[in-house]
Amino acid sequence: MSYAWPDFVDECKRCKACSLSETRNNVVIYRGAIRAQLMIVGEGPGANEDLQGMPFVGQAGRLLDLLLQAYGFTGDDFHICNIVKCRPPENRVPTAEEAKMCMPLLAKQIRFAKPKIIVLLGKTAYKYFMNSDEPIGKVRGRFIEKNDFLILPTFHPAYILRNNNERITLWRDIGLVREKMEALGLIAPLSDIPLMPEGRG
Ligand code: URA
Repeated sequence: MSYAWPDFVDECKRCKACSLSETRNNVVIYRGAIRAQLMIVGEGPGANEDLQGMPFVGQAGRLLDLLLQAYGFTGDDFHICNIVKCRPPENRVPTAEEAKMCMPLLAKQIRFAKPKIIVLLGKTAYKYFMNSDEPIGKVRGRFIEKNDFLILPTFHPAYILRNNNERITLWRDIGLVREKMEALGLIAPLSDIPLMPEGRG
Protein backbone atom coordinates (compact mmCIF):
# COMPACT_ATOMS: atom_id res chain seq x y z
CA MET A 1 0.00 0.00 0.00
CA SER A 2 1.28 3.46 -0.82
CA TYR A 3 2.26 5.91 1.86
CA ALA A 4 0.64 9.29 1.15
CA TRP A 5 0.86 12.70 2.82
CA PRO A 6 -2.10 12.04 5.20
CA ASP A 7 -0.28 8.88 6.36
CA PHE A 8 2.77 10.97 7.04
CA VAL A 9 0.75 13.51 9.04
CA ASP A 10 -0.75 10.64 10.99
CA GLU A 11 2.66 9.19 11.72
CA CYS A 12 3.89 12.57 12.99
CA LYS A 13 0.84 12.97 15.23
CA ARG A 14 1.31 9.53 16.75
CA CYS A 15 5.08 9.94 17.22
CA LYS A 16 6.41 9.22 20.71
CA ALA A 17 10.05 8.78 19.72
CA CYS A 18 11.30 11.30 22.29
CA SER A 19 10.11 12.93 25.47
CA LEU A 20 9.02 16.12 23.69
CA SER A 21 5.88 14.18 22.82
CA GLU A 22 4.93 14.17 26.53
CA THR A 23 4.70 17.94 26.84
CA ARG A 24 3.44 18.99 23.40
CA ASN A 25 -0.03 20.32 22.70
CA ASN A 26 0.32 19.80 18.97
CA VAL A 27 2.76 18.27 16.56
CA VAL A 28 3.92 21.09 14.30
CA ILE A 29 4.41 19.75 10.79
CA TYR A 30 4.39 22.46 8.13
CA ARG A 31 2.76 25.43 6.55
CA GLY A 32 2.66 26.57 2.94
CA ALA A 33 2.43 24.02 0.15
CA ILE A 34 3.03 20.30 0.59
CA ARG A 35 4.98 20.24 -2.66
CA ALA A 36 7.25 23.26 -3.10
CA GLN A 37 10.57 24.13 -4.75
CA LEU A 38 11.57 26.04 -1.61
CA MET A 39 11.75 24.45 1.82
CA ILE A 40 12.49 26.59 4.86
CA VAL A 41 13.69 24.81 7.99
CA GLY A 42 13.70 26.40 11.44
CA GLU A 43 14.70 25.04 14.83
CA GLY A 44 11.56 23.92 16.60
CA PRO A 45 8.10 25.12 17.60
CA GLY A 46 7.70 27.82 20.23
CA ALA A 47 4.68 28.43 22.44
CA ASN A 48 2.47 29.90 19.69
CA GLU A 49 3.38 27.20 17.24
CA ASP A 50 2.69 24.50 19.81
CA LEU A 51 -0.76 25.93 20.48
CA GLN A 52 -1.69 26.47 16.83
CA GLY A 53 0.01 23.41 15.37
CA MET A 54 1.76 25.47 12.70
CA PRO A 55 5.37 26.62 12.35
CA PHE A 56 6.46 30.24 12.52
CA VAL A 57 3.20 31.85 13.59
CA GLY A 58 4.75 34.05 16.33
CA GLN A 59 6.91 37.15 16.12
CA ALA A 60 9.76 35.48 14.22
CA GLY A 61 7.19 34.09 11.80
CA ARG A 62 5.78 37.53 11.16
CA LEU A 63 9.23 38.77 10.19
CA LEU A 64 9.77 35.73 7.99
CA ASP A 65 6.42 36.28 6.26
CA LEU A 66 7.24 39.93 5.69
CA LEU A 67 10.48 38.97 3.97
CA LEU A 68 8.88 36.28 1.86
CA GLN A 69 6.08 38.61 0.79
CA ALA A 70 8.54 41.39 -0.02
CA TYR A 71 10.25 39.06 -2.46
CA GLY A 72 6.95 38.04 -4.01
CA PHE A 73 6.69 34.55 -2.55
CA THR A 74 3.23 33.20 -1.83
CA GLY A 75 2.16 30.22 0.26
CA ASP A 76 2.23 28.08 -2.88
CA ASP A 77 5.96 28.64 -3.30
CA PHE A 78 7.32 27.37 0.02
CA HIS A 79 7.07 24.62 2.61
CA ILE A 80 8.05 25.78 6.10
CA CYS A 81 8.96 23.30 8.81
CA ASN A 82 11.40 22.69 11.65
CA ILE A 83 14.19 20.36 12.73
CA VAL A 84 11.94 19.07 15.54
CA LYS A 85 8.16 18.88 15.36
CA CYS A 86 7.38 19.24 19.07
CA ARG A 87 8.07 22.20 21.30
CA PRO A 88 11.07 21.88 23.59
CA PRO A 89 9.95 22.99 27.09
CA GLU A 90 10.83 26.61 27.93
CA ASN A 91 11.79 27.07 24.27
CA ARG A 92 15.17 25.53 24.89
CA VAL A 93 17.29 24.40 21.97
CA PRO A 94 16.45 20.82 20.91
CA THR A 95 19.03 18.29 22.05
CA ALA A 96 21.09 16.28 19.57
CA GLU A 97 19.08 13.21 20.57
CA GLU A 98 15.73 14.94 19.93
CA ALA A 99 16.95 16.19 16.55
CA LYS A 100 18.17 12.70 15.69
CA MET A 101 14.86 11.08 16.61
CA CYS A 102 12.97 13.60 14.47
CA MET A 103 15.26 13.39 11.44
CA PRO A 104 13.58 10.38 9.77
CA LEU A 105 10.31 12.34 9.72
CA LEU A 106 12.05 15.36 8.21
CA ALA A 107 13.63 13.09 5.59
CA LYS A 108 10.17 11.76 4.65
CA GLN A 109 8.83 15.30 4.59
CA ILE A 110 11.54 16.33 2.14
CA ARG A 111 10.55 13.44 -0.11
CA PHE A 112 6.99 14.78 -0.21
CA ALA A 113 7.93 18.44 -0.63
CA LYS A 114 10.61 17.69 -3.27
CA PRO A 115 12.32 21.08 -2.88
CA LYS A 116 15.29 22.18 -4.93
CA ILE A 117 16.30 24.90 -2.46
CA ILE A 118 16.48 24.38 1.29
CA VAL A 119 16.95 27.42 3.53
CA LEU A 120 18.28 26.65 6.99
CA LEU A 121 17.29 29.30 9.52
CA GLY A 122 19.86 29.73 12.25
CA LYS A 123 22.64 27.79 13.84
CA THR A 124 20.54 24.95 15.24
CA ALA A 125 18.94 24.13 11.88
CA TYR A 126 22.37 24.31 10.25
CA LYS A 127 24.04 22.20 12.94
CA TYR A 128 21.57 19.34 12.86
CA PHE A 129 20.82 19.41 9.17
CA MET A 130 24.42 19.61 8.01
CA ASN A 131 25.94 17.84 10.99
CA SER A 132 28.36 20.70 11.45
CA ASP A 133 29.32 23.03 14.27
CA GLU A 134 30.55 25.82 12.03
CA PRO A 135 29.27 29.22 13.16
CA ILE A 136 26.25 30.39 11.17
CA GLY A 137 27.90 33.78 10.64
CA LYS A 138 30.64 32.03 8.70
CA VAL A 139 28.52 29.79 6.48
CA ARG A 140 25.49 31.96 5.80
CA GLY A 141 24.74 33.50 2.44
CA ARG A 142 26.39 30.87 0.24
CA PHE A 143 24.64 27.95 -1.41
CA ILE A 144 25.90 24.48 -0.56
CA GLU A 145 25.24 21.71 -3.08
CA LYS A 146 24.31 18.45 -1.40
CA ASN A 147 22.35 15.44 -2.66
CA ASP A 148 20.96 17.48 -5.54
CA PHE A 149 19.69 20.18 -3.18
CA LEU A 150 20.93 23.74 -2.97
CA ILE A 151 21.14 24.56 0.71
CA LEU A 152 21.33 28.13 1.94
CA PRO A 153 22.09 28.72 5.61
CA THR A 154 21.11 32.11 6.98
CA PHE A 155 20.28 33.82 10.25
CA HIS A 156 17.18 32.87 12.21
CA PRO A 157 14.55 35.65 12.18
CA ALA A 158 14.37 35.48 16.00
CA TYR A 159 18.08 36.37 16.07
CA ILE A 160 17.38 39.30 13.75
CA LEU A 161 14.67 40.53 16.10
CA ARG A 162 17.35 40.74 18.80
CA ASN A 163 20.11 42.06 16.50
CA ASN A 164 18.49 44.60 14.27
CA ASN A 165 21.77 45.54 12.58
CA GLU A 166 21.82 42.12 10.88
CA ARG A 167 18.35 42.61 9.41
CA ILE A 168 19.78 43.65 6.04
CA THR A 169 21.80 40.43 5.89
CA LEU A 170 18.69 38.25 6.21
CA TRP A 171 16.94 40.41 3.59
CA ARG A 172 19.85 39.93 1.22
CA ASP A 173 19.93 36.18 1.80
CA ILE A 174 16.23 35.79 1.00
CA GLY A 175 16.92 37.93 -2.08
CA LEU A 176 19.60 35.40 -3.08
CA VAL A 177 16.99 32.66 -2.84
CA ARG A 178 14.64 34.54 -5.16
CA GLU A 179 17.49 35.20 -7.61
CA LYS A 180 18.58 31.57 -7.62
CA MET A 181 15.05 30.28 -8.09
CA GLU A 182 14.48 32.63 -11.01
CA ALA A 183 17.84 31.74 -12.57
CA LEU A 184 16.96 28.03 -12.37
CA GLY A 185 13.47 28.62 -13.77
CA LEU A 186 11.88 27.36 -10.55
CA ILE A 187 9.72 30.46 -10.24
CA ALA A 188 8.56 33.14 -12.67
CA PRO A 189 10.67 36.32 -12.65
CA LEU A 190 9.10 38.95 -10.42
CA SER A 191 8.76 41.36 -13.36
CA ASP A 192 6.51 38.80 -15.09
CA ILE A 193 3.97 38.92 -12.31
CA PRO A 194 1.22 41.30 -13.48
CA LEU A 195 0.51 44.05 -11.00
CA MET A 196 -3.03 44.28 -12.24
CA PRO A 197 -5.34 41.78 -13.94
CA GLU A 198 -5.09 42.13 -17.73
CA GLY A 199 -7.38 44.55 -19.50
CA ARG A 200 -7.86 46.74 -16.46
CA GLY A 201 -5.14 49.25 -17.25
N1 URA B 1 11.22 29.40 15.63
C1 URA B 1 11.47 28.26 14.95
O1 URA B 1 12.62 27.89 14.75
N2 URA B 1 10.45 27.59 14.49
C2 URA B 1 9.20 27.98 14.65
O2 URA B 1 8.31 27.29 14.17
C3 URA B 1 8.96 29.17 15.36
C4 URA B 1 9.98 29.87 15.85
